[in-house]
Amino acid sequence: MNFKGKSVAITGVSSGLGHALAIEFTEAGANVFGCDVNVEAGQKNMSAIGAKFQKVDVSQESEVAAFVSSVVASHGKLDVMVNNAAVSVSQELAKTTEAELDRILGVNLKGPFFGTKHAVLAMLETGGGNIVNVASILGLVADGMLAAYCAAKGGVLGLTRAAAVQYGDRGIRVNAICPGDIDTPLVKEYFEMFDDPKAARTSVEKEYPMKRIGSPKEIAQAVMFLASPYSSFMTGQQLVVDGGLTIDCY
Ligand SMILES: NC(=O)c1ccc[n+]([C@@H]2O[C@H](COP(=O)([O-])OP(=O)(O)OC[C@H]3O[C@@H](n4cnc5c(N)ncnc54)[C@H](O)[C@@H]3O)[C@@H](O)[C@H]2O)c1
Repeated sequence: MNFKGKSVAITGVSSGLGHALAIEFTEAGANVFGCDVNVEAGQKNMSAIGAKFQKVDVSQESEVAAFVSSVVASHGKLDVMVNNAAVSVSQELAKTTEAELDRILGVNLKGPFFGTKHAVLAMLETGGGNIVNVASILGLVADGMLAAYCAAKGGVLGLTRAAAVQYGDRGIRVNAICPGDIDTPLVKEYFEMFDDPKAARTSVEKEYPMKRIGSPKEIAQAVMFLASPYSSFMTGQQLVVDGGLTIDCY
């Protein structure tokens, strides 16, 4: 895929999928602008690929607005926005505290909301663009121990549809991606919670028709498809990339 001359803003580039996205888009010729709360890893990751880095907490609207403004100031316009940053707290509904809920909704729902809002504002000025929100299969199906996370990811799909409907006639496409398990630090942390992390990983992998979880690169390539002209008649959609997990009824 060719993103030569395009500006691509990505949140959460210090780790996992965000880092993979920054690498893939850079290799495809894009000018990548990454942000994260983790400054050390973010700066290291972005300088290694010649991309720009900014410290941003996506749960704070003013910081997201400043991030988008700095991309426009540097490149003239924002072509692609990928709202990827997220956190996870493993907790069932009945034990979820208000503080835990605020944190998850702040980063995982308000973050993509602010990212979509300010990308739209910038794109309306320059004739359009593409926004990709990283949701999850947990916006479609459930894990009882991730109640707040599921609520936030379902919300991301709702905001994706609302923005797609409202701005479709102004050259802005807004889509979401719903990955299954991806081999990133977020998932490794989850396996580490078990007495035998290796056995936990094997039992998760066995659930997949493809008998493995996804790589960050595989998800990044699907995001690039949604951000590219190859998906030019798609908007408001939730692209499931999960090795067949959610279509397997046994
Ligand atoms: N890993 C999976 O199995 C999986 C599955 C489905 C969806 N996802 C989604 O993919 C995306 C990336 O997940 P990942 O696995 O790479 O996670 P990760 O934990 O490896 O990376 C998330 C990044 O977001 C950053 N971040 C956290 N809070 C932030 C904030 N307030 N402001 C800015 N940056 C912040 C972190 O510092 C980190 O660099 C997330 O939206 C996640 O929900 C992941």
